[in-house]
Amino acid sequence: MDKIVVVGNGPLYGKIPIAGAKNACLALMPATLLSSEDLILTNSPRLSDIRTMSHLLKSLGCSVVSLDEGRTLVLSTKNIDNHIAEYDIVRKMRASILVLGPMLAREGRAIVSLPGGCAIGARPVDLHLSVLEALGAIFELRDGYIEGKVNGKLKGAIFTFPMVSVGATENALMAATLALGTTVLKNVAREPEIVDLAECLIKMGANISGHGTSEITIDGVESLKGATHSIVADRIELGTYMLAPVIAGGEVELLGGRRNLISSFCDKLEQSGVEILQKENSLVVRKTNNQVRGINIITEPFPGFPTDLQAQMMAVLCTALGDSILEERIFENRFMHAPELIRMGAKIDVQGGVAKVSGVARLRGAPVMATDLRASVSLILAGLAAEGETIVSRVYHLDRGYEKVEEKLGACGALIQRVSE
Ligand code: UD1
Repeated sequence: MDKIVVVGNGPLYGKIPIAGAKNACLALMPATLLSSEDLILTNSPRLSDIRTMSHLLKSLGCSVVSLDEGRTLVLSTKNIDNHIAEYDIVRKMRASILVLGPMLAREGRAIVSLPGGCAIGARPVDLHLSVLEALGAIFELRDGYIEGKVNGKLKGAIFTFPMVSVGATENALMAATLALGTTVLKNVAREPEIVDLAECLIKMGANISGHGTSEITIDGVESLKGATHSIVADRIELGTYMLAPVIAGGEVELLGGRRNLISSFCDKLEQSGVEILQKENSLVVRKTNNQVRGINIITEPFPGFPTDLQAQMMAVLCTALGDSILEERIFENRFMHAPELIRMGAKIDVQGGVAKVSGVARLRGAPVMATDLRASVSLILAGLAAEGETIVSRVYHLDRGYEKVEEKLGACGALIQRVSE
């Protein structure tokens, strides 16, 4: 298993290109199940989660061809010849549940393994099932699998989500494109990845309006055609690398970065004393004074502060002036990076969903363990500012969502390398 070794090495200067969004790509790929024509996705990130989704789609009968070293994906689903998403693939990645809506819409049947729990909480799929039931699907749970069927075609309906869910919004949005009549989805997620999916579906011939607001209307169509779509920039990768010069000092330009993808995150950074400059096609982050100020954060659905940047922000606040309070409201068990940061000398007190971070002058390098994707990169950020060597193990979590971390940070002067055991 690989490890990442980081040695705190002072300020960072340079440019980091931001890849296409993993979470947008994972929702766009299953859209191939809605059409028999080619769906071409450009600006695709090269990550293990994308390979897992390819593997899942291929197991259902789709063809997935990767061109341009994985930057372009050509997906085609002439026929769906297997209707079972197996446990062995689904357990690796919750986003596998996104094949359910499209398969029910096109074929009227689908069997998908229940994803089960994961490191950052219980994460049920009840909302995915409720909204698809409202569209006419019937579900049975058998032997750990969700067995779904539709009598005839899905039918448009009005559905209000009891809580905001990114994945359930995506599943419903895709399913409703081929339903009979009109669907109105209320209290939906507004994340840029939802907007990206809706825009791609519109290129495929879907009738969708209201995406990016809390109410989306979909007028079902008979069939969808092929399309070519360039994936939106990864706002979580953007936010993560914006924090590198904040914790280590220096100035970094994030190529392809746009403030409107993460404006609440930028507001918080500015409040802590960081300078952010929007250029025509990039964001520049500069750390002006020596220490950032402690700030308070509450994670919320978009446009609020993203839960996927909470761990990275916590790493930065470990060396801030004064105290910070971080409240995690999306996932109940998302502070597993805290004990690892404490091993590096951080002062963090976690009480339920709230963490109090008291800034210390310096972190010290230590062997640490990645517990999930965002936790793993938070430890790398902490390592950039720590005295001595930080060795992050279980790097496979990192590889799910960040491509070439060593190269991207190394190009800005970080002392970072991957070591294979
Ligand atoms: C997506 C992102 C993930 C991000 C999260 C929140 C992908 C592949 N993943 O995950 O990186 O952290 O949004 O921004 O896009 N919930 C239920 N029942 C459900 C579904 C969700 O109770 O049926 C709960 C979850 O446990 C959680 C909350 O709703 O507490 C939000 O989850 P959701 O927005 O669905 O997250 P994902 O789509 O899984």
